[in-house]
Amino acid sequence: MAKITAIDIVNMKNKGEIITMLTAYDYVISSILDEAETDILLVGDTMGMVVYGHSTTLPVTLEESIRHTQAVARGAKSSMVVGDMPFGTFQVSKEESIKNAIKLVKIGRAEAIKLEGGIERIDSIKGILDAGIPVMGHLGLTPQSYHKFGGFKVQGRTEEEGNFLIEEAKALEETGIFSLVLEAIPWEVAKQITESISIPTIGIGAGPHCDGQVLVTYDMLGYFDFKAKFVKRYVNLKEQILNAVSKYNKEVRTGVFPDLSYSYEKPKK
Ligand code: KIV
Repeated sequence: MAKITAIDIVNMKNKGEIITMLTAYDYVISSILDEAETDILLVGDTMGMVVYGHSTTLPVTLEESIRHTQAVARGAKSSMVVGDMPFGTFQVSKEESIKNAIKLVKIGRAEAIKLEGGIERIDSIKGILDAGIPVMGHLGLTPQSYHKFGGFKVQGRTEEEGNFLIEEAKALEETGIFSLVLEAIPWEVAKQITESISIPTIGIGAGPHCDGQVLVTYDMLGYFDFKAKFVKRYVNLKEQILNAVSKYNKEVRTGVFPDLSYSYEKPKK
């Protein structure tokens, strides 16, 4: 199958096709998600929490994002690979934002980048787009604003906040971004945004009316004990891994594994 591009993603909205996106941080998961025909693999800065064990996404570095994007790119034959711009890589200046986005594409092999924020990011977004890099926006509960929001809190709940989100979505669309993540906002606001812009919205905790959906893969596979309201677990991998590893430990300790069928033998004379 041919590689999915930013143009294909925009066309999916025009054709009424729903977009699927999942996070990936390594080669093996990337290959599996690709084989399952996931449209977009996001090398999200959630890696800071699920891979590196931080309590927020804030400590993720550009080098980490690049390294994981490289691994994901090797596994993605047809899924589109989007690299996430970590905190601090696009807030300082337009020039720095462009340089860092170029690194994610040139060294990391991302095919587009995602960055969080609204009207305050328009200059940087325009610069990155001018460099020929497709940009995915991200509004609502933008986790890099954890301290500003006072935690991971649903956004856009008041009339005023909802209207401001709609305004920001329109302003981002005007820059030329190819898609927009909407995270943890009331479904009514997400629906209104989806209906008022021509680029696809991809929701996470934003209800069923977005043009696509994204989840953190570790969440939907049940690796974690914590489960946000919007996460559907499609399998409980933590339980399955616990069972498998406990069985392995028991069999090794009791000499059941390995028996001779798992062992090499000398050549027969
Ligand atoms: O970093 C990430 O994984 C994300 C998704 C939750 C959209 O931004």
